[in-house]
Amino acid sequence: LYKKIKRWIKENKQSIMDIFEKHRNKPYPKHVAFIMDGNGRWAKELEQERSYGHMMGAVHLVEIITDCFRNGTQFLTFFVFAEQNWKRPPEEIKRIFEILYKKIKILDMEIDYCNFRILVQGRLDRVPKKLRTILERVQEKTKDKEKTVIIALDYSGRQEIIRACKRIMASKSDITQDTMQNHMYVKNIPDPDLIIRTGGEKRISDFLLWQLCNSELYFTDVYWPDFDIVEFKKAIADYQSRERRYGNISRC
Ligand code: IPE
Ligand code: MG
Repeated sequence: LYKKIKRWIKENKQSIMDIFEKHRNKPYPKHVAFIMDGNGRWAKELEQERSYGHMMGAVHLVEIITDCFRNGTQFLTFFVFAEQNWKRPPEEIKRIFEILYKKIKILDMEIDYCNFRILVQGRLDRVPKKLRTILERVQEKTKDKEKTVIIALDYSGRQEIIRACKRIMASKSDITQDTMQNHMYVKNIPDPDLIIRTGGEKRISDFLLWQLCNSELYFTDVYWPDFDIVEFKKAIADYQSRERRYGNISRC
Protein backbone atom coordinates (compact mmCIF):
# COMPACT_ATOMS: atom_id res chain seq x y z
CA LEU A 1 0.00 0.00 0.00
CA TYR A 2 2.85 2.38 0.88
CA LYS A 3 4.42 1.82 -2.54
CA LYS A 4 1.05 2.39 -4.18
CA ILE A 5 0.58 5.70 -2.37
CA LYS A 6 4.13 6.79 -3.23
CA ARG A 7 3.56 5.98 -6.89
CA TRP A 8 0.24 7.81 -6.88
CA ILE A 9 1.84 10.93 -5.40
CA LYS A 10 4.66 10.77 -7.95
CA GLU A 11 2.25 10.42 -10.86
CA ASN A 12 -0.08 13.15 -9.62
CA LYS A 13 2.43 15.51 -8.11
CA GLN A 14 2.39 18.00 -10.95
CA SER A 15 -1.37 18.29 -11.07
CA ILE A 16 -1.59 18.62 -7.30
CA MET A 17 1.05 21.35 -7.33
CA ASP A 18 -0.70 23.08 -10.23
CA ILE A 19 -3.91 23.23 -8.27
CA PHE A 20 -2.16 24.62 -5.21
CA GLU A 21 -0.18 27.18 -7.18
CA LYS A 22 -2.90 28.37 -9.49
CA HIS A 23 -5.19 29.45 -6.72
CA ARG A 24 -2.71 30.25 -4.02
CA ASN A 25 -3.67 33.89 -3.68
CA LYS A 26 -7.40 33.56 -4.03
CA PRO A 27 -9.52 33.56 -0.91
CA TYR A 28 -11.16 30.46 0.48
CA PRO A 29 -14.93 30.53 0.71
CA LYS A 30 -16.09 32.06 3.96
CA HIS A 31 -18.58 29.27 4.57
CA VAL A 32 -18.30 25.71 3.22
CA ALA A 33 -21.04 23.11 3.72
CA PHE A 34 -20.67 19.37 3.17
CA ILE A 35 -23.15 16.68 2.17
CA MET A 36 -21.08 13.71 3.24
CA ASP A 37 -22.31 10.85 1.11
CA GLY A 38 -21.00 7.46 0.06
CA ASN A 39 -20.00 5.95 3.41
CA GLY A 40 -22.12 2.83 2.90
CA ARG A 41 -20.93 2.14 -0.64
CA TRP A 42 -17.33 2.74 0.40
CA ALA A 43 -17.67 0.12 3.15
CA LYS A 44 -19.45 -2.31 0.83
CA GLU A 45 -16.56 -2.18 -1.62
CA LEU A 46 -14.33 -3.31 1.23
CA GLU A 47 -16.84 -5.97 2.22
CA GLN A 48 -17.41 -4.23 5.53
CA GLU A 49 -20.53 -3.16 7.43
CA ARG A 50 -22.02 0.21 6.49
CA SER A 51 -21.17 1.59 9.92
CA TYR A 52 -17.48 1.01 9.21
CA GLY A 53 -17.92 3.57 6.44
CA HIS A 54 -19.53 6.03 8.87
CA MET A 55 -16.65 5.54 11.27
CA MET A 56 -13.99 6.02 8.61
CA GLY A 57 -15.86 9.07 7.36
CA ALA A 58 -14.40 10.97 10.29
CA VAL A 59 -10.72 10.42 9.47
CA HIS A 60 -10.14 13.40 7.21
CA LEU A 61 -12.24 15.83 9.21
CA VAL A 62 -9.40 17.27 11.25
CA GLU A 63 -7.20 18.03 8.24
CA ILE A 64 -10.06 19.64 6.33
CA ILE A 65 -11.20 21.74 9.29
CA THR A 66 -7.62 22.81 10.07
CA ASP A 67 -6.91 23.71 6.44
CA CYS A 68 -10.10 25.76 6.17
CA PHE A 69 -9.63 27.75 9.34
CA ARG A 70 -6.00 28.40 8.44
CA ASN A 71 -6.98 29.79 5.06
CA GLY A 72 -9.74 32.19 5.93
CA THR A 73 -12.87 30.06 6.10
CA GLN A 74 -14.92 31.07 9.13
CA PHE A 75 -17.85 28.66 8.99
CA LEU A 76 -18.12 24.96 8.19
CA THR A 77 -21.34 22.95 8.09
CA PHE A 78 -21.50 19.15 8.06
CA PHE A 79 -24.70 17.28 7.20
CA VAL A 80 -24.35 14.56 9.80
CA PHE A 81 -27.88 13.22 10.00
CA ALA A 82 -30.86 14.13 7.83
CA GLU A 83 -34.43 13.93 9.04
CA GLN A 84 -34.89 11.61 6.07
CA ASN A 85 -32.26 9.28 7.56
CA TRP A 86 -34.77 8.11 10.20
CA LYS A 87 -35.97 5.71 7.48
CA ARG A 88 -32.77 3.67 7.91
CA PRO A 89 -32.55 0.50 10.01
CA PRO A 90 -32.50 1.37 13.75
CA GLU A 91 -29.19 -0.41 14.20
CA GLU A 92 -27.48 1.83 11.64
CA ILE A 93 -29.03 4.96 13.14
CA LYS A 94 -27.80 3.90 16.56
CA ARG A 95 -24.27 3.44 15.23
CA ILE A 96 -24.26 6.86 13.55
CA PHE A 97 -25.24 8.53 16.83
CA GLU A 98 -22.66 6.47 18.72
CA ILE A 99 -19.89 7.51 16.35
CA LEU A 100 -20.92 11.15 16.62
CA TYR A 101 -21.04 10.85 20.40
CA LYS A 102 -17.52 9.43 20.52
CA LYS A 103 -16.15 12.22 18.34
CA ILE A 104 -17.83 14.91 20.41
CA LYS A 105 -16.62 13.26 23.59
CA ILE A 106 -13.00 13.54 22.39
CA LEU A 107 -13.61 17.19 21.57
CA ASP A 108 -15.16 17.74 24.99
CA MET A 109 -12.15 16.22 26.72
CA GLU A 110 -9.79 18.45 24.75
CA ILE A 111 -12.01 21.48 24.79
CA ASP A 112 -9.18 23.84 25.81
CA TYR A 113 -7.48 23.16 22.49
CA CYS A 114 -10.63 23.59 20.47
CA ASN A 115 -10.47 26.83 18.53
CA PHE A 116 -13.97 26.81 17.10
CA ARG A 117 -17.48 26.88 18.45
CA ILE A 118 -19.90 24.07 17.83
CA LEU A 119 -23.44 24.83 16.77
CA VAL A 120 -26.20 22.33 16.13
CA GLN A 121 -28.54 23.08 13.27
CA GLY A 122 -31.59 20.88 13.50
CA ARG A 123 -33.38 19.00 16.26
CA LEU A 124 -31.90 17.66 19.46
CA ASP A 125 -35.15 16.42 20.99
CA ARG A 126 -35.21 13.10 19.10
CA VAL A 127 -31.58 12.03 19.38
CA PRO A 128 -30.32 9.88 22.31
CA LYS A 129 -30.23 11.80 25.58
CA LYS A 130 -26.51 11.19 26.07
CA LEU A 131 -25.77 12.78 22.71
CA ARG A 132 -28.12 15.68 23.36
CA THR A 133 -26.50 16.42 26.72
CA ILE A 134 -22.94 16.41 25.41
CA LEU A 135 -23.85 18.54 22.41
CA GLU A 136 -25.57 21.08 24.64
CA ARG A 137 -22.48 21.13 26.83
CA VAL A 138 -19.95 21.65 24.03
CA GLN A 139 -22.14 24.32 22.45
CA GLU A 140 -22.12 26.20 25.74
CA LYS A 141 -18.40 25.69 26.36
CA THR A 142 -17.33 26.84 22.91
CA LYS A 143 -19.78 29.67 22.42
CA ASP A 144 -17.18 32.47 22.48
CA LYS A 145 -14.82 30.98 19.90
CA GLU A 146 -14.25 32.87 16.69
CA LYS A 147 -14.61 30.15 14.04
CA THR A 148 -17.68 27.94 13.73
CA VAL A 149 -18.40 24.29 13.01
CA ILE A 150 -22.08 23.60 12.46
CA ILE A 151 -23.47 20.10 12.85
CA ALA A 152 -26.66 19.59 10.86
CA LEU A 153 -28.37 16.95 12.94
CA ASP A 154 -31.86 15.53 12.49
CA TYR A 155 -32.02 18.33 9.94
CA SER A 156 -34.54 19.07 7.22
CA GLY A 157 -34.40 22.23 5.12
CA ARG A 158 -38.16 22.17 4.55
CA GLN A 159 -38.90 21.75 8.25
CA GLU A 160 -36.56 24.61 9.05
CA ILE A 161 -38.49 26.89 6.69
CA ILE A 162 -41.88 25.76 8.04
CA ARG A 163 -40.70 26.25 11.62
CA ALA A 164 -39.45 29.75 10.81
CA CYS A 165 -42.78 30.70 9.16
CA LYS A 166 -44.79 29.43 12.11
CA ARG A 167 -42.68 31.35 14.60
CA ILE A 168 -42.87 34.56 12.61
CA MET A 169 -46.64 34.22 12.32
CA ALA A 170 -46.93 33.56 16.06
CA SER A 171 -44.99 36.74 16.74
CA LYS A 172 -47.34 38.55 14.33
CA SER A 173 -44.38 39.91 12.35
CA ASP A 174 -44.15 40.21 8.63
CA ILE A 175 -42.57 37.36 6.68
CA THR A 176 -39.55 38.95 5.03
CA GLN A 177 -36.08 37.77 4.09
CA ASP A 178 -34.76 39.31 7.30
CA THR A 179 -37.35 37.78 9.62
CA MET A 180 -36.90 34.40 7.94
CA GLN A 181 -33.14 34.67 8.39
CA ASN A 182 -33.64 35.46 12.07
CA HIS A 183 -35.79 32.40 12.65
CA MET A 184 -33.52 29.74 11.23
CA TYR A 185 -32.02 27.13 13.56
CA VAL A 186 -28.71 29.02 13.73
CA LYS A 187 -28.53 32.81 13.64
CA ASN A 188 -26.09 35.29 12.19
CA ILE A 189 -24.41 32.75 9.97
CA PRO A 190 -23.67 33.85 6.40
CA ASP A 191 -25.10 31.60 3.70
CA PRO A 192 -22.72 28.92 2.45
CA ASP A 193 -20.54 30.06 -0.45
CA LEU A 194 -19.77 26.51 -1.43
CA ILE A 195 -21.70 23.28 -0.93
CA ILE A 196 -19.78 20.08 -1.58
CA ARG A 197 -21.53 16.74 -2.09
CA THR A 198 -19.45 13.59 -2.25
CA GLY A 199 -20.56 10.11 -3.31
CA GLY A 200 -21.71 10.72 -6.87
CA GLU A 201 -25.33 11.82 -6.40
CA LYS A 202 -26.17 15.22 -7.85
CA ARG A 203 -28.91 16.44 -5.59
CA ILE A 204 -29.47 18.59 -2.52
CA SER A 205 -31.61 16.21 -0.45
CA ASP A 206 -33.37 18.73 1.80
CA PHE A 207 -30.13 20.43 2.85
CA LEU A 208 -30.03 24.19 3.58
CA LEU A 209 -32.90 24.94 1.20
CA TRP A 210 -33.23 28.54 2.37
CA GLN A 211 -29.51 29.23 2.66
CA LEU A 212 -28.33 27.79 -0.68
CA CYS A 213 -29.85 30.67 -2.68
CA ASN A 214 -26.49 31.80 -4.13
CA SER A 215 -24.24 28.90 -3.17
CA GLU A 216 -21.82 27.35 -5.62
CA LEU A 217 -22.37 23.60 -5.85
CA TYR A 218 -19.59 21.06 -6.24
CA PHE A 219 -20.28 17.38 -6.83
CA THR A 220 -17.71 14.62 -6.83
CA ASP A 221 -17.92 10.87 -7.29
CA VAL A 222 -15.39 10.34 -4.50
CA TYR A 223 -16.93 8.60 -1.49
CA TRP A 224 -16.84 10.63 1.71
CA PRO A 225 -14.26 8.41 3.52
CA ASP A 226 -11.90 8.95 0.55
CA PHE A 227 -12.47 12.70 0.46
CA ASP A 228 -9.11 13.84 1.79
CA ILE A 229 -7.26 17.13 1.72
CA VAL A 230 -6.21 16.69 -1.93
CA GLU A 231 -9.83 16.13 -2.98
CA PHE A 232 -10.86 19.08 -0.87
CA LYS A 233 -8.27 21.34 -2.50
CA LYS A 234 -9.66 20.34 -5.89
CA ALA A 235 -13.09 21.51 -4.76
CA ILE A 236 -11.64 24.78 -3.49
CA ALA A 237 -9.73 25.33 -6.74
CA ASP A 238 -12.91 24.67 -8.73
CA TYR A 239 -14.78 27.18 -6.57
CA GLN A 240 -12.02 29.76 -6.96
CA SER A 241 -12.15 29.45 -10.74
CA ARG A 242 -15.83 30.42 -10.83
CA GLU A 243 -17.20 33.90 -11.25
CA ARG A 244 -19.99 34.65 -8.82
CA ARG A 245 -22.48 37.08 -10.25
CA TYR A 246 -25.49 37.05 -7.94
CA GLY A 247 -27.77 37.79 -10.89
CA ASN A 248 -25.53 40.54 -12.25
CA ILE A 249 -23.92 40.51 -15.71
CA SER A 250 -20.61 38.83 -16.46
CA ARG A 251 -17.44 40.82 -15.87
CA CYS A 252 -15.57 38.89 -18.58
C1 IPE B 1 -23.72 9.21 4.19
O1 IPE B 1 -23.37 8.00 3.64
C2 IPE B 1 -23.73 9.18 5.70
C3 IPE B 1 -25.03 9.48 6.33
C4 IPE B 1 -26.14 9.75 5.72
C5 IPE B 1 -25.05 9.48 7.78
P1 IPE B 1 -24.46 6.93 3.26
O2 IPE B 1 -24.75 6.09 4.45
O3 IPE B 1 -25.66 7.60 2.66
O4 IPE B 1 -23.70 6.06 2.18
P2 IPE B 1 -24.28 5.46 0.82
O5 IPE B 1 -24.93 6.59 0.07
O6 IPE B 1 -25.26 4.41 1.21
O7 IPE B 1 -23.09 4.92 0.13
MG1 MG C 1 -26.22 8.06 0.73
